[in-house]
Amino acid sequence: MEISYDLSEYLSETLRIAAQKVDGFDDAFEPQVRVADERFGDFQANGVLPFAKRKGQNPRALAEQLIQTLPPSEDWEVSLAGPGFVNFSLSPGFLLRWIQAYGSDDAIRGAGKVGQSRKIVLDYSSPNTAKQMHVGHIRSTIIGESLARLLEHRGHEVIRDNHLGDWGTQFGMLLLAIKREQVNLDELGDEPIARLENLYRAGNALTKEDESALTEAREELVKLQKGDPENLALWQKIRDLSMDSFERIYDLLGVRFDHAHGESFYRDQVDAVYAGLQERGICREDAGALVVFHPEHKRFAKQPFIIRKSDGASNYATTDLATLAYRTSEWRAEQVIYVTDGRQRDHFEQLFLTTEKWFGAENKTLPTLSHVWFGTILGEDNKAIKTRDGEPIKLIDLLNEAIQRAAEMVREKKPDLAEEEIRRRAQVIGLGAVKYADLSQDRTLDYVFSWDKLLAMQGNTAPYLQYAVARISSIFRKFEGDLSSLEENARPPKTEHERSLARKLVFFPLALEQTVKELKPHFLCTYLFELATGFSSFYNQDKVMVSDPAERSLRLMLCARTKLFLETGLRILGIETLEEM
Ligand code: ARG
Repeated sequence: MEISYDLSEYLSETLRIAAQKVDGFDDAFEPQVRVADERFGDFQANGVLPFAKRKGQNPRALAEQLIQTLPPSEDWEVSLAGPGFVNFSLSPGFLLRWIQAYGSDDAIRGAGKVGQSRKIVLDYSSPNTAKQMHVGHIRSTIIGESLARLLEHRGHEVIRDNHLGDWGTQFGMLLLAIKREQVNLDELGDEPIARLENLYRAGNALTKEDESALTEAREELVKLQKGDPENLALWQKIRDLSMDSFERIYDLLGVRFDHAHGESFYRDQVDAVYAGLQERGICREDAGALVVFHPEHKRFAKQPFIIRKSDGASNYATTDLATLAYRTSEWRAEQVIYVTDGRQRDHFEQLFLTTEKWFGAENKTLPTLSHVWFGTILGEDNKAIKTRDGEPIKLIDLLNEAIQRAAEMVREKKPDLAEEEIRRRAQVIGLGAVKYADLSQDRTLDYVFSWDKLLAMQGNTAPYLQYAVARISSIFRKFEGDLSSLEENARPPKTEHERSLARKLVFFPLALEQTVKELKPHFLCTYLFELATGFSSFYNQDKVMVSDPAERSLRLMLCARTKLFLETGLRILGIETLEEM
């Protein structure tokens, strides 16, 4: 018999079928199978208790009957615990069969595929042009990329779209400064974006000084938005320069987009947005601006969603509405996931409410809309991270520092390594460490950025996981026997540490499932960390190279699977591994 990949799902189904034969249960029964405390079993069904309570029945009696109705099986032992929990302890033979079955990338990818693949647009990274990417953008880029990889791993069709902020008010100030200072954009020097940032600052200062400059900046922006050729050419040049600087970072991080449409792509579609919302009576004029209120909502009944400013210019909201319409009609998106800072929660809530009404009125299907938001990266002083002079930290500087620090670590351990190899390893370790530090925290929380913590070889860090992979690789490098028949030769797990590691392996699909369900990569990180610590205990306790072939085969197989799952998990997180560290 083929063995199920996700055993929590399999056990749920088994329980549901049994429940149909027990008086007192009905279709509303949700078994809620979870990982059990290791002292009590491997899986635990928690669903009887809340179900019985709702129905005014005795949970223990109901659970008792359910257990008795389960078909006898050699694959597990079932027991009743507490007020009505059903515990499953998997048999050693069953654990072995599962591990035998899921031993390759193809096998786990195939088994993990969802029944119905969906088309999902992932809107992430999305920096603003004419500015350098700073530390704040790292979260969107890294979290977004890992979710894209995870959804692909599950068999979904993912469209990665970098929604650049390339059509905003910053261009008013910039164009003003460029024209007043008669700047040639082809001669901006080695750090063109830094120059642009200075120009923006200069423009901003000018508008603060006198009213006429402010009017001029607004006019430049409106001219640009109306398609004035001179302004458009300047704008295009700025966009290209910005894209080049972003690409350098994406190359380092291993991130690739299918599209970078940006806000500007939708500039010709904003009139259709106004018309659509006006015709349906969803927006109205308010002090010259076009706004949407949501009377049924506590806050948004009074707080307007401005979709056209009083000077006639479109804004962030307008282009986001047009973008969503486009993704739905042109790409047939079934889900759109936006990855941004938590400070944009209001914007997305209003965007989603407005679109729901708009699409509803036009009988269009609304894709599932998800705002994946995250907290702030803090410095060691617990305030938003800054340089010593109080400036935002440039992302490129941070990444280079990570590589440099990792290079020192590598050099210290292996002083004789060629410089090129040091650099290669340092990239994998340094960038992996920065990514993992971000992904391993619940994304809705702020976290303190600390070099010492994220590069530590011990604890829940990328170097620790990468080291576990390298250690397993070295076992196989040294092994001279035949690896082809481990599966056939292995005996079932027996020792405490074999069993514990085997059961950890079985939980891999659950970790992915929970990560997808909540769109929170830290669940996968926690799992990988526990897998690595489980491996470490096993490896310290149970010698792998024993003479008994059945025992050795099992232990080698446990090593190989641990490596496979660690590598697969890290790859999903966008983190590379090394054969030697
Ligand atoms: N450019 C925006 C920023 O830097 C993020 C855009 C997010 N995506 C969107 N469709 N609004 O904050």
